Amino acid sequence: MTDVLAAFEAAKGFMPLDEGLALHAAAKEAAAGLGLPLLEVGTYCGRSTILLADAARGAGTVVVTVDHHRGSEEQQPGWEYHDTSLVDPAVGRMDTLPAFRRTLYAAGLEDSVIAVVGRSPQVARLWRQPLGLVFVDGGHTDEHAAADYEGWAPLLAEGGLLVVHDVFPDPADGGQAPYRIYRRALESGAFAEVSVTGSLRVLRREPGVLAV
Ligand SMILES: C[S@@+](CC[C@H](N)C(=O)[O-])C[C@H]1O[C@@H](n2cnc3c(N)ncnc32)[C@H](O)[C@@H]1O
Repeated sequence: MTDVLAAFEAAKGFMPLDEGLALHAAAKEAAAGLGLPLLEVGTYCGRSTILLADAARGAGTVVVTVDHHRGSEEQQPGWEYHDTSLVDPAVGRMDTLPAFRRTLYAAGLEDSVIAVVGRSPQVARLWRQPLGLVFVDGGHTDEHAAADYEGWAPLLAEGGLLVVHDVFPDPADGGQAPYRIYRRALESGAFAEVSVTGSLRVLRREPGVLAV
């Protein structure tokens, strides 16, 4: 775990350590309990992926991580979270795939990750395999967050964990789209809250029909 935490700290990304540890704990529990693949929306440079991958490896399963690698709205040039070093000079657009591959290699976790380069709703429409955990950390507009929730939450096995990042109940602290899908999950009656760490929320899928 020490090596994985060192790789986590070294990777570009936005997740603080306390939230990373909570994500890792949830992933370990889900992977060990259900033995099913873990799914991440929003790979970016792999900072959170390697925590999921470490948990998956320990339980003999894998992480599937989905990203188009062109960056979210707030990561585009001129916006708050833009990183000029992540622009591909050949095409003039963001490309986080090379940095992600370097993160994975440095952590020694390439064999535990399946990376899908694509748009989350398109991938979700093709996916049939039940999942042990869904981590939503993709686009933070209402359109993207809702599509991620609607696309992936129904694929969670009963007892599986839904983890949502950047949940800010107070609009003064950040955008509201992740908060709205978190509320929607709880109000559906299909999820119960397991833990709150910073802006990270872990919910468990309850038995019964899931109407998102
Ligand atoms: C906040 S970053 C993810 C951070 C990462 N989980 C971490 O902890 O370091 C959001 C990522 O979601 C991706 N993204 C945004 N909308 C997407 C969509 N509709 N489909 C796939 N990826 C998307 C962006 O390209 C970006 O890399």
